[in-house]
Amino acid sequence: MLANVLGGITPARFLAEYWQKKPLLVRGALPGFTGLATREEIFELACDPDVESRLVRYRTAAPETSTVDHGPQKRSHLRGKQEPWTVLIQGLNLWVPAADALLHQFDFIPQARLDDLMVSYAVDGGGVGPHFDNYDVFLLQGIGKRRWQIADQQDRSLVEGAPLRLLRDFKPVHDWVLESGDLLYLPPHWAHNGIAIGECTTYSVGFKSPTAQELAYGFIDWLAERLDLQGMYADPDLKLQENSAEIPPTMIDRVARMLKGIRWTRADVAAFLGDYLTEPKPSVFFEPPTELLDRAAFARALKAKGCRLDPRTLLLWSAEAGFHLNGESIPVSGENRDILATLAHRRRLEGVKRPSEAILKLLYGWYEDGFLHVDEP
Ligand code: SIN
Ligand code: CO
Repeated sequence: MLANVLGGITPARFLAEYWQKKPLLVRGALPGFTGLATREEIFELACDPDVESRLVRYRTAAPETSTVDHGPQKRSHLRGKQEPWTVLIQGLNLWVPAADALLHQFDFIPQARLDDLMVSYAVDGGGVGPHFDNYDVFLLQGIGKRRWQIADQQDRSLVEGAPLRLLRDFKPVHDWVLESGDLLYLPPHWAHNGIAIGECTTYSVGFKSPTAQELAYGFIDWLAERLDLQGMYADPDLKLQENSAEIPPTMIDRVARMLKGIRWTRADVAAFLGDYLTEPKPSVFFEPPTELLDRAAFARALKAKGCRLDPRTLLLWSAEAGFHLNGESIPVSGENRDILATLAHRRRLEGVKRPSEAILKLLYGWYEDGFLHVDEP
């Protein structure tokens, strides 16, 4: 797939005019796209205990009686014909390698902003009801059709007592029917409601939107592991005080001075972000290869056919803090930076003709851990 998912709009124009600003509908963004997984594959994932899924029955007439069942789903629950339902799979990109190729279509947005690819399967009339999300999303239609209604409303009050975040008073301003390969971009907080017209699948490329508080918690945790303050509390000048239960003001002064030793630099922030953004989700486990190639065979495969990152691997870099893979900082010397930057951007390398010993050692280690794969020639 080499199509430009933004249709006639350049990525630069998209960023300037639409990203985080206004919705964009692209008809035929990916001509011929009918999804990455069949209905059966989606159901199988929904029933897998390692996969995050939700089965939603949104009831238009009485939204507060809607239901949400978190996975693993029971296969028999994915057959209901009585009322509309939809099943949603989070993190499809962790399980389906083709999802990586699809996400690459959206690489005009930094991978550092990317969260995951979700897929929903719905029967006729199914959906999750009118709501808003805090993050940007690209909604790509797989099989079938879905009617999308959207609104930029300020009234974000929610239906009380519902198990889903549903808007109480949704007032759509646009109403479109998306067909296979059509794409709708929505900025954060735009209200939307997607209703399946017949059986349909929708793929959502979702982005991260950490709150300042989440970032601060993450950073303080990260910093705590690296702090190296010197000294110990001491008070040789202690004065007699009237009430022994009073925390001495001199103690508060001293501790305040000690804590001033907690400092950080922009380089620490860059290093923290690299670790934080590449930390695998708690449900992620890597599987080392069942038949491990020895280093010489690995080198041959790498030269002949290159390598690809496991769909679960996260590899990011910054000029200030270097490379980060799956939550850890990776020391890389100058000559190998370009090759790793290409691997990180494309998530694969074509045949590597003359790999240095250092890069071979690094990639072989990742291969042994299941972070990266080679195809045998
Ligand atoms: C869906 O695919 O049904 C829901 C996607 C969304 O509203 O964010
Ligand atoms: Co949504």
